[in-house]
Amino acid sequence: MLSLSFFLTFGLVAAETGINAWLRYAPLPSAMSHPTLPASIVALNTSANSPVDTAGLELQKGISSIFGKNLTIASHSSTSASIVVGTVSEYASAYGQSPKTPQLENDGFWLNTTGPSVQILGQNERGALYGAFEYLSMLAQGNFSKVAYASNPAAPVRWVNQWDNLDGSIERGYGGNSIFFTNGLVVNTTDRVSQYARLLASIGINGVVVNNVNANSSLLSPTNVAGLGRLADAFRPYGVQVGISLDFASPTEGLVYGNLSSYDPLDAGVISWWQNVTDTIYRTVPDFAGYLVKADSEGQPGPLTDNRTLADGANLFANALKPHGGILMFRAFVYNDMINETDWKADRANAAVQFFSGLDGKFADNVIIQIKYGPIDFQIREPTSPLFAYLQNTSTAIELEVTQEYLGQQCHLVYLPPLWKTVLDFDLRKNHQPSLVRDIITGKRFNRPLGGSAAVVNVGLNDTWLGSHLSMSNLYAYGRLAWNWAEDPEAILEDWTRLTFSPDPTVIQTITNLSMSSWPAYENYSGNLGIQTLTDILYTHFGPNPASQDGNGWGQWTRADGKTIGMDRTVSNGTGFSGQYPQEIMEMYENITTTPDNLVLWFHHVNYTHQLHSGETVIQHFYNAHYAGAETAQTFPTQWEGLQGKIDAERYNETLFRLTYQAGHSIVWRDAITRFYHNLSGIADSQSRVTHHPWRIEAESMKLEGYMPYTVSPFETASNNTAIVTSSNSTMGTASAVLTFPNGTYDVGVNFYDLLGGQSKFNLNINNDFVGQWTADNVETGRLGHAPSVYLDGHSATRVTFRNVTIKKGDRLEITGTPDGIEPAPLDYVVFLPKGVVD
Ligand code: GCU
Repeated sequence: MLSLSFFLTFGLVAAETGINAWLRYAPLPSAMSHPTLPASIVALNTSANSPVDTAGLELQKGISSIFGKNLTIASHSSTSASIVVGTVSEYASAYGQSPKTPQLENDGFWLNTTGPSVQILGQNERGALYGAFEYLSMLAQGNFSKVAYASNPAAPVRWVNQWDNLDGSIERGYGGNSIFFTNGLVVNTTDRVSQYARLLASIGINGVVVNNVNANSSLLSPTNVAGLGRLADAFRPYGVQVGISLDFASPTEGLVYGNLSSYDPLDAGVISWWQNVTDTIYRTVPDFAGYLVKADSEGQPGPLTDNRTLADGANLFANALKPHGGILMFRAFVYNDMINETDWKADRANAAVQFFSGLDGKFADNVIIQIKYGPIDFQIREPTSPLFAYLQNTSTAIELEVTQEYLGQQCHLVYLPPLWKTVLDFDLRKNHQPSLVRDIITGKRFNRPLGGSAAVVNVGLNDTWLGSHLSMSNLYAYGRLAWNWAEDPEAILEDWTRLTFSPDPTVIQTITNLSMSSWPAYENYSGNLGIQTLTDILYTHFGPNPASQDGNGWGQWTRADGKTIGMDRTVSNGTGFSGQYPQEIMEMYENITTTPDNLVLWFHHVNYTHQLHSGETVIQHFYNAHYAGAETAQTFPTQWEGLQGKIDAERYNETLFRLTYQAGHSIVWRDAITRFYHNLSGIADSQSRVTHHPWRIEAESMKLEGYMPYTVSPFETASNNTAIVTSSNSTMGTASAVLTFPNGTYDVGVNFYDLLGGQSKFNLNINNDFVGQWTADNVETGRLGHAPSVYLDGHSATRVTFRNVTIKKGDRLEITGTPDGIEPAPLDYVVFLPKGVVD
């Protein structure tokens, strides 16, 4: 049992920016027993900047930071007790005997702490570095147990993708600008690149694709290829190989190496053009990982232009890479984004299997097909992509998204591994045999030599990397899972919390509670029953806008009308998508009675009054889930407040700010979605919550001076469809009301809109007494990094809350708003919340 004084020490920690993430190596509290460690480190036969060299330095730094002990580093064997790190073969030659390790696979390691010396031996140098990080992770968590085990990765490809543009912006990035590029060029200073490499190596990641899949051929210019050399030099000491995304049409763009008239993958000129480019890259980056290609997708060029197959396209690059040992990751995200919703059988979900039909086995053996987890696009819940079962003679990798594009953009806490697990642990029952997705991508199920995973991460220059401290658990967990998909997401989270914040059990329990309830909560308040994340798919992908799903060619349809909702993807009457699965799975989804509730609207088109297995109707489930999800999110800030003093003030406050924002924005989501479907279906909420807000005062019903009503679009993103804006962009407005609520103490929430392009100021008084003030500047200051909006809508709608305000009936509430730039100090409503009420 740990003493009280042990935990009190946690209150004293200095402010932290988050830049070291889970590699802080915080000093262990003195009350914790410390192990007897060897006095020296032996890093076997290292050359400067090799992974084993890095391992030695990392062990030295980590042990000094955790225990205040300074260990020396030698590069030759020693007879005294030491921490020995190196490859198995270097160990054998240095010590004159082979270590007693089981057979290790590529990148695997052996960790033995049972003797006076500690052995950290890798199958290769990279493996040795991974072992060193594993040992340090144990020490940093106060785990000094005697262990001797081998650890091997689940798959050879454990990559991350960055969607960084050469101008320094990042597509779907919410943590600042690129650490790799600025102004069209690779950066000169690579400190942040090295720090990222360190983070990635510590979780077993061995490859990084540094630029956007929507690629730009100027990355191939001689200056930028030299720049790639700099990036590779920064990644190499950590065993991370660099790859790049390619623009399929590069040969015709005239930016580098001449201008061809076509990019036909079977054209001899095109083939030698790419061979030349590839050879040039390998001269600068001899350990270059390979290419990632997005072709014939969302306007990107590809082989289909020349009536060639996707396999022809992929093999073009694979053949160029092959002599150098490189890999070609070819994305399965190929679809037509102009399909016609009036065609009942049209279905974007069908695209991947259709486009790859007939191509299984036609890809070169260094090609890996990189498949998003679901058939559409990183939604809150999707069924497993059937392509995983379709490709048996082709290597595959799963594509995940750490960056929370459709899932709150790091402004909402959503711990993603439980979502990923719904796909990775899914059994596709190919040929009636167990066929877990995780066994398919790791090559085990179909005996493939290559395979693995890639996660779109999109870290940026922000000190927190992703924009939010808590979101980093997703990156950490991705690496841990890519190494071993069978790991438990909750156990990973606990390790991450111990390393990132504190071993204090209250901290671990709170962050576990928050994180493990976060994905279910987000699903509840964003999109239920497999209908997808009901966000604005045409604009920011952030806030609610259910109408944007339908009536366009993107194919993320809900087919909602006044009576019915959902996509009929059955073979018998719908798009036939369920028929792309192996028979047992097809039969389950084909039949509504065996389709799980959480995917019913993905596979079936039903009445709002259809009764689910749960006994609820679809529409009542929508209402209940949205209220439940938002209610859970309301507890996030208060749960976090229990950690005050147990976490440094900087990370405590920044996280509290985000969780408070999430609580407010979850109400925006809840109200928008429930009101949208209430309006569409005309069916009342059996609990009479939807459209009934007894504790609100609508801004438009207040006495307005210098303010005027404004009809918001989409309507459901304003309470009662209407907000108020100042009558001019330069003059202050005032909204006032006499309070009729019973005397008492309330939390007062004010819903307003925070647009990009202005920093309006607000002031809230009751009876001329100051209650609070705030500025709508979260997007301009970057305090919230989500994609911004220049409109009053579900992205800009937000809430500020003032706690414990005592009022009497008859008091006068007054809000003044001072507009700024294009932002007319927009207000939606004020809500007086008695204790325990969520509205
Ligand atoms: C999504 C995302 C795009 C991205 C695309 C892809 O559609 O919104 O930004 O380019 O996926 O994965 O290629």
